[in-house]
Amino acid sequence: MKDGHGRTIDYLRISLTDRCNLRCIYCMPEEGIDLIEHEDILRIEEIQRIVRVATRIGIKSVRLTGGEPTVRRGIEDLIGDIVSLPEIRNVSLTTNGILLPKMARRLREAGLSRVNISLDTLDRRQYAQITRRDRLPEALAGIDAALEAGLDPVKINAVTVRSLNQDYFDFAKMSIERPLHVRFIEYMPVGESAGFDGLGWGERDVYPSEQLVADINARAVERGFLPLEALDGASGPIGWGPARYFSFSGAKGTVGVISPRSRHFCGDCNRLRLTADGKLRPCLFSDREFDVRAALRTGGEEAVYAVFLEALGEKPDDHHDRVGTERGMSQIGG
Ligand code: GTP
Ligand code: 5AD
Ligand code: SF4
Repeated sequence: MKDGHGRTIDYLRISLTDRCNLRCIYCMPEEGIDLIEHEDILRIEEIQRIVRVATRIGIKSVRLTGGEPTVRRGIEDLIGDIVSLPEIRNVSLTTNGILLPKMARRLREAGLSRVNISLDTLDRRQYAQITRRDRLPEALAGIDAALEAGLDPVKINAVTVRSLNQDYFDFAKMSIERPLHVRFIEYMPVGESAGFDGLGWGERDVYPSEQLVADINARAVERGFLPLEALDGASGPIGWGPARYFSFSGAKGTVGVISPRSRHFCGDCNRLRLTADGKLRPCLFSDREFDVRAALRTGGEEAVYAVFLEALGEKPDDHHDRVGTERGMSQIGG
């Protein structure tokens, strides 16, 4: 179905929980956040009913997010139920990968086809600084487990922050030997991270993708590699999201950039978001929300359908570089 600006909306991101086993500094404060009350969290069976209604407005792809979605009990059943709907083409997951060594195979068997794993650095100390947890080996084992379980594609999400001064060429090289799709995401100052806190990140820490690709290429050439080649949309990994893709010559995977700050992709936006407490959010950057949970609990599925239509009609045309949101990433799901 089309929204009020003529965009076809066929992709629903569902945050399963606001809980997480990491504490990434751009997402959550050290002490965590006030968690949503248990009775306010959608039950798995309620999410199943909402997805059924969502298919009536044309949703064809579902991405499960968090917090950390793998800490939510019942995720396998939910995936199985969603993939069984004839309208649904694809169910995917965005995770930090920590639990994948235990769960990748089961998730695959339940019907998950692909996965995006958050990893910002290959340096153990920097990983512990960013996530506030010393768990890099587990995250790397999660990537191995995803590949071994046959999830395809496996994409890596790295949020770029200028003042971390990383060698992003070294990071991008992961895409050469293994079929990994390494995506660099411009840091977005939303929620708690807008402002900003003790780390002093802010707008100046946005690392524009054009600059990043130029820097990666300069390092590549210095090290005797050919620069990245841009891929046309059809030759990138499967996905319906905002990334643009490149590849190194002969590489098994690709390198992507997601540029919410330097190059708005709102004109092609195809998505709605559902928070763990059952609010439909037409835009990541807008705090305007529509209460699906109340509709379901008081009016049933027809009431949910009406809320979907309302949210669709109210989807803004662009985020207009808005900075800061009431909810942080862990409550919105990215
Ligand atoms: P696929 O292309 O289907 O693999 O999904 P995706 O890249 O959209 O999903 P993922 O959860 O991996 O998100 C990657 C990054 O893109 C995260 O930082 C998200 O916050 C960001 N992102 C995803 N959708 C939007 C959007 O609509 N607007 C903005 N500004 N950022 C988005
Ligand atoms: N800016 C950009 N991306 C972010 N993510 C979390 N917080 C931010 C932010 N402030 C990414 C995570 C995860 C995805 C859901 O969103 O790294 O991969
Ligand atoms: Fe957890 Fe993801 Fe937020 Fe990091 S970005 S704290 S992994 S929800």
